[in-house]
Amino acid sequence: MNNFMLHTPTKVLFGEGQIAALRDQIPSDARVLITYGGGSVLRTGVLTRIREALSGMTLFEFGGIEPNPSYETLMGAVALARAERIDFLLAVGGGSVLDGTKFIAAAAPYAADKDSWHILETVGGEVQGAIPLGAVLTLPATGSEMNMGAVITRKSTGDKQHFFSPFVIPRFAVLDPVLTYTLPARQVANGVVDAFVHVIEQYITYPVDAKVQDRFAEGLLLTLLEEGPKALVEPDNYAVRANIMWSATLALNGLIGAGVPHDWSTHMLGHELTARHGLDHAQTLAVVLPVMLDAQRDSKRAKLLQYAERVWDLRDGSEAERIDGAIAATRAFFERMGVPTRLRDYGIEQPDIETMLAKLEARGYTALGEQGKVTLALSRHIYEAAR
Ligand code: NZQ
Ligand code: ZN
Repeated sequence: MNNFMLHTPTKVLFGEGQIAALRDQIPSDARVLITYGGGSVLRTGVLTRIREALSGMTLFEFGGIEPNPSYETLMGAVALARAERIDFLLAVGGGSVLDGTKFIAAAAPYAADKDSWHILETVGGEVQGAIPLGAVLTLPATGSEMNMGAVITRKSTGDKQHFFSPFVIPRFAVLDPVLTYTLPARQVANGVVDAFVHVIEQYITYPVDAKVQDRFAEGLLLTLLEEGPKALVEPDNYAVRANIMWSATLALNGLIGAGVPHDWSTHMLGHELTARHGLDHAQTLAVVLPVMLDAQRDSKRAKLLQYAERVWDLRDGSEAERIDGAIAATRAFFERMGVPTRLRDYGIEQPDIETMLAKLEARGYTALGEQGKVTLALSRHIYEAAR
């Protein structure tokens, strides 16, 4: 096991009705900006319940944060936060609202002489403070509710980039599985696939004898495999939703990733597919991951075999057959969730590979993966093979 430092200070308020506990999490004299997305929280009544829970407090609202939250939209909220001297942010929505709110939190107090996009260019390294934030999650997927990451898109230049900062880790996260009943099937599936791939990125690397992390990872994968399809046919099944929600949070809150190597190449290639071709985040992962695992089958051999045995119960046949079987089963699971795994399934016959490779190169992503094996040449192969 590798050395690690783990600090996960988010207070988790899990379960039905936890919105009622919101009031006690926010300083009573705070000037609170509630942020939300394209309107689902208005339609579902979640925003009304939050207004009620916080009645009497000084509240402001900023809606319209879109999926793959854009810098252009978020700068409007930054201006509002500065003008109204906001000192607490409450994000209500999915990963996009949470990520966007992390950006607002970091950008509002950011150096006035610098463009806030600089936060992304420096991957958060120069962030020295942020407005404190909390979250009410409505879409289990990204783990953003309990981590220090955020992914922001700049539409004008076609960039989708991430930043990390301990200052933007949510102070608390309300995880009420009932709030996920209203999700469209596409978003349920996206969430399960995203969480599944988060586990894979931290698990299918090379062995470092980290038994706890491995078995946590396998437990999360098995839970998502078991519960994901059920959520599509039984949207109101509380136990199913609860298990998915907690799996998604644990998949990317630092726990399973502590002390082990990480890959993340599937995510990095996926972000370029979203930026260039507009696919949902999870759709890009479903397209890239099977090809990526196959392309790295030699360097990932030991963990692929472990994955085949412990997650898919594949014990017979040659090593190559078991690895093929595990990759095929992974692809079939995504398809079963209703997330297609080929670019052509999304109508993309001619992916703009040159533009995506140029972006990867510009970001310095020329040796991605836990062993630096994903060169630009291999990325080209992966985009080609994903068609
Ligand atoms: O915008 P509204 O109207 O709220 O609708 C949203 C949106 O259209 C809808 N939705 C959310 N909760 C709902 C609901 N509809 C009905 N009922 C509910 N309860 O779902 C749609 C998608 O929402 P979005 O927030 O975009 O999805 P997701 O949570 O999958 O977030 C994706 C974003 O997170 C980033 C992705 O790159 C992408 O930008 N990621 C963030 C990570 C992180 N911070 O650690 C890691 C991930 O790998 C990922 O990159
Ligand atoms: Zn992801």
